[in-house]
Amino acid sequence: MNFITLTLLLVYQVHGLSFPKCFKFGFATASYQIEGGWNASGKGPNIWDWYTHTYPTRIADLTNGDVACDSYHKVATDVKLLKNIKADFYRFSISWARIFPTGQTNNINPDGVRYYNELINLLLANNIKPVRIISLIMPIKYFPYSGIVSKPGSPSTNLPKSDYFVDYADKVFSLFGDRVKTWITFNEPSQICEFGYSNGAIAPGYTQLGIGNYMCGRTLLIAHAKAYRLYEKKYKQLQKGFIGMTVHAVWFEPAAEGKTYAEAAEISLQFMFGWWEHPIYKGGYPPVMRKRINYLSAQQNFTKSRLPYFTKDEIKLIKGTADFLGLNHYTSFLCSALDSGAVQSPLMNPDTNVTCYQPSSWKRGASIWIKVTPWGFRKILNWIKKEYGNPKVLVTENGYSDKGELQDCNRVNFLNDYLTELLNAIKKDGCNVQGYAVWTLMDNFEWGSGYTERFGLFYMNPSDPNRARIPKMSAYVLRNIIKTRKIDTTFTPQGFKACPAS
Ligand code: BGC
Repeated sequence: MNFITLTLLLVYQVHGLSFPKCFKFGFATASYQIEGGWNASGKGPNIWDWYTHTYPTRIADLTNGDVACDSYHKVATDVKLLKNIKADFYRFSISWARIFPTGQTNNINPDGVRYYNELINLLLANNIKPVRIISLIMPIKYFPYSGIVSKPGSPSTNLPKSDYFVDYADKVFSLFGDRVKTWITFNEPSQICEFGYSNGAIAPGYTQLGIGNYMCGRTLLIAHAKAYRLYEKKYKQLQKGFIGMTVHAVWFEPAAEGKTYAEAAEISLQFMFGWWEHPIYKGGYPPVMRKRINYLSAQQNFTKSRLPYFTKDEIKLIKGTADFLGLNHYTSFLCSALDSGAVQSPLMNPDTNVTCYQPSSWKRGASIWIKVTPWGFRKILNWIKKEYGNPKVLVTENGYSDKGELQDCNRVNFLNDYLTELLNAIKKDGCNVQGYAVWTLMDNFEWGSGYTERFGLFYMNPSDPNRARIPKMSAYVLRNIIKTRKIDTTFTPQGFKACPAS
């Protein structure tokens, strides 16, 4: 690269595209991962308390979320961080068992309500909008009869009950909806259903491969839709809020040229993302999902499809239940059809008949699944635009894991590169993205990986009794982006060294 090209490139990067004025930047966390206070002041145990206490060895470093970042005792500290870093919004979740210890809404824990009121009021006093996930981390007392899935082997009988969640959502809207205007019903239903109820990799660790996931999915879609309709009818006019669901989307790229590869990538997108968004934006399951699961279920001698059917009324109930599309995006995969001779990775849903992988040459984070592919961000946003008619999108998570370095150049480069692609998607492709939240505010309990994978823009040491939050280089870099509305890859905050280019 010659001198003139380099100068032009730097000038472009510094003075290039800028984020629209109305575009909002935020920070995301989740209750179990940060709050701690697991049994404080009337909180009931939830499925993650039970899971980590019952199976401590399932967590890489034998830790749990009992204290986590101690955010339960650090409302003022957390809001101050958000204020200093110039957050427009804070995406956090409610712990069901903190406000309803048994799950039942007749039994309210005043201290839980006090805690969330304090947080919401302080955020608003600092001009930070609360974006709230209602969340499905269930109180343990509730779990045996929660009805997320039904009896093994009976996919279409003993229909699960979504109404428990709706009662809970109703109370939550009435308690906090005067101040919270953006609601997310569920975060990452694919992960809840695949890992929680099919392969059992996370709490509650239920294994019913190829059955539990689809029953859970059906319940969650109906629960989401009922909560949306309830809000629409009972609260919307008064509270004037917006409600949606957040889905995790990987970008699936064809592994090679040709129709079978393109189809393999498309099938993967439909199974992971279309599973939720097709019923909401188009009505019913993606045809490719319905066709494949029906075919395989018949081959496997099931009398009925493992993918339970919606009734006509349920399809109608679900269709149109999103004021925005919540998107969590981190990484990409390359996909091929199994018919091409590839062997399926055990992580893939066998019903897809597709295998996807990440080349080892791709740069990775501390988490094995995070390969740095900023180009995939622009592609998934464009796919959403085309597939669902350019809906309003709120990016509710995007981030990078390392081991907790303060000079976190890999994260700095990740943010600069992913945000550049986001800006391209908005400015050059016309994608209707309204905001972006980084995962995550501070290092926190990363589920099965404990604290061995750090996603925070603030460092937090779980052995420090004070749980101090220390800004990493990326915190200053993102702050500068929020302040200037531009990406400046040359920006080096005081006290840090310039990062090598990505
Ligand atoms: C989840 C977070 C998790 C993050 C990193 C997201 O998909 O919502 O809870 O910590 O991924 O694994």
